[in-house]
Amino acid sequence: MTESLLFPSRTYIGSGQLFEIPVLTKMLGAGIIVHGQSFWKKKEYKLLQGKLAVKKSFYQYKGGEPGLADVRELIAYCRTKKAAWIAGIGGGSVLDLAKIAAGLYYAGEDPEFYFQGGIIGSRGIPFIAIPTTTGSGSEATNVAVIINEKNKEKSAIRENSLLAHSVILDPNLLIGLDHQVAANSAFDAITHVVEGFFSRRATWFTETLALKAFELLTKNTERFYELLKAKSNEISQEYVDMQLGSYYAGLAFGNSGLGIVHGMSYSLAAIFGAPHGQVCANLLVPSLQLNKDFVNDKYSILSKLVGRDLSEFLTDLKGTLKIENPFKAIEIETKPVIASTLGSPSTKANPKEVKDQDVLWMLAQLTSK
Ligand SMILES: [Fe+2]
Repeated sequence: MTESLLFPSRTYIGSGQLFEIPVLTKMLGAGIIVHGQSFWKKKEYKLLQGKLAVKKSFYQYKGGEPGLADVRELIAYCRTKKAAWIAGIGGGSVLDLAKIAAGLYYAGEDPEFYFQGGIIGSRGIPFIAIPTTTGSGSEATNVAVIINEKNKEKSAIRENSLLAHSVILDPNLLIGLDHQVAANSAFDAITHVVEGFFSRRATWFTETLALKAFELLTKNTERFYELLKAKSNEISQEYVDMQLGSYYAGLAFGNSGLGIVHGMSYSLAAIFGAPHGQVCANLLVPSLQLNKDFVNDKYSILSKLVGRDLSEFLTDLKGTLKIENPFKAIEIETKPVIASTLGSPSTKANPKEVKDQDVLWMLAQLTSK
């Protein structure tokens, strides 16, 4: 068996590491920092501005999942500014947008060409990933998820050259995160871990990372949610552990692939506009029932780590985090979901070989009253 592992070149972990940006980009020249709606209100924004040589290096993204038009706009902006690097400070959407803009900086075709499977023949410019949520794992992967606004089709562009040059995990950036956003993100991360651990492409290395991520995420999610809900202004160990758990989960699934939950999630999230983490949270337990007999002793390994049956633990955690099921008693047009699920690379890594009837069964579980 052969194995090829992908990791960002360098990872900075800890309080205040955000301010490594000027140091690590010193030799590169001027760059652009893409950020979401909330970053400019944080004290770190002003502090960072003061430390950067070129003051007008910031690009505020309007929010939401990025579409092709957003990618085109950011690439054009960065080219005008002759950016030598792009950093993304934000949740999964901001990171994906910054990542794809850096990756396509020198690309000759329109982003739609790559969205439809065209190969990126050039290397792009360095991308620095700085997550402000704990879930997407985008900082660790070579994938960017983009929406085609014309038909609402959501697709992942995968290319090794998209992998972050550097990752900065600064827990200060989690202060002020909305607790319900954090709850959805945590379930996204837990789904990454479980699907990555169960994946038919899992190896000793990805399993080891996934187990550590599982431990960090399942031990800390509830307390992290409570601290955010209480609007705590102090960072505590839970913040650091959630950031690490999410990152390790990203490194694991980035190298092992995922499963049917992520295979189904794109089409379902696109149809209903439901947050990705919420979709994952509602599909994860049914996927465990589907796959349980195909993962050897892995289900019981995870159950042992949480001290009880894994499905029961996750069902209770979803309840504690007040994650709703928007699909309950809803009629879903099954054909597009089946087609999108069976065509997804995530589905191909699922332990049980996925057939039409498996997707229908999952949909029935999701929509049952
Ligand atoms: Fe995900």
